[in-house]
Amino acid sequence: MKILAIETSCDDTGIAILEAKGIKNPAFCILANVVSSQVKLHRKYGGVYPSLAKREHQKNLIPVLKKTLEESNFLKSKVNPPAGGQSLKLKTLKEILEREEYLFKQLKNFLLKYEKPKVDVIAVTIGPGLEPCLWAGVNFAKALGFWWNLKIIPINHIEAHIMVNFIDQSQKSIRRLADKSQKLFPAISLVVSGGHTQLAVMKNFGEYRIIGETRDDAAGECFDKTARILGLGYPGGPVISTEASKLQTTNNKLHIKLPRPMINSKDYDFSFSGLKTAVLYDFKTRSSKTKKSKKYIREMAKEIQQSAVDVLIKKTLRATKDFRAKSIILGGGVTANKELREQLSKKIEKELPNVIFLKPLIQFCTDNAAMVAASAYFKKNKVVNWKFIQANANLRIS
Ligand code: KG4
Ligand code: ZN
Repeated sequence: MKILAIETSCDDTGIAILEAKGIKNPAFCILANVVSSQVKLHRKYGGVYPSLAKREHQKNLIPVLKKTLEESNFLKSKVNPPAGGQSLKLKTLKEILEREEYLFKQLKNFLLKYEKPKVDVIAVTIGPGLEPCLWAGVNFAKALGFWWNLKIIPINHIEAHIMVNFIDQSQKSIRRLADKSQKLFPAISLVVSGGHTQLAVMKNFGEYRIIGETRDDAAGECFDKTARILGLGYPGGPVISTEASKLQTTNNKLHIKLPRPMINSKDYDFSFSGLKTAVLYDFKTRSSKTKKSKKYIREMAKEIQQSAVDVLIKKTLRATKDFRAKSIILGGGVTANKELREQLSKKIEKELPNVIFLKPLIQFCTDNAAMVAASAYFKKNKVVNWKFIQANANLRIS
């Protein structure tokens, strides 16, 4: 089974092809996984502008598709491109891409020039995410589904961040950790990204109960906003982490102490906007010389990171104990954070040595389409005709 997966929920245009062989212990192989990031564009604004991001997706989708098909050896030019007789088909294609005029022109040329690739099904992220961005990917998937007569598997972005853990990479060849599945559930999943901070109890593949969420900003959003205050650029998570790692312990300490919002609250919810406000207040009280000093920036970055890490770890461990979970599964861009990964790993080893800890490979933490394909594999029976696929910006796992 070969799955062509599409991801456009935020500012990354991703397309991947995954091949799964065998049924009981399937071997996974990512034939191609192409991501075109819009970071440079959004850097100017310190965040993602949905309408701008949508336009970029429309521009990027065909080049990314072409590259994905080339890498997987599926791009074959038609020997005899159709001379005519396609007008009815093209009319429907135009209707599907009614709001994506630029994409329609590009896709039309592409589809007339190249053969249908040897894929069996299309998977696409339908939510949650930025609505205009989601629609770009969804309409593209619908157009391909219609033209190539392929069914579509609708995918939840949060679930995809979790399911990417079930592929294990050695270069391009990927295998599923199927044999461990018995001991994994119930699992606690922690998805931390630019849009979400969410703890869920996972009873089985595809069975979730959300137990905690952020009440305001997501952890990644907090990194992005505080990095902007400190003048560090976008995206904030990686720069905060790099600056924090440069801090040398010296005697002339600034002693910055930030709050750990909701760390002791009895629920599993989070709140990160207070952390951002605390950073802003501190920043405003400093002299312009201090604000620009490496020591201040690095110490602040380290404290921001540690505050988020402390809260995430505390709540995740408490949820694991309370629900007697057998595993902890991480996902989302922020889980690329070295400190979060290492500190959580040490805590689990010390406090919950029997709990299995799954974290995505670094390259699969931030948005990509391999995770969409992995998720689709577990939903291979949930195929839908292209006509019934809709984006849903507020989609939740359940
Ligand atoms: O999952 P993702 O790619 O997109 C969303 O679904 O939102 O996550 C993006 C977020 C950004 O906020 C970015 O600052 C954060 O992940 N991020 C990190 C790191 N790499 C990316 N945060 C902390 N440490 C990192 N190394
Ligand atoms: Zn994401």
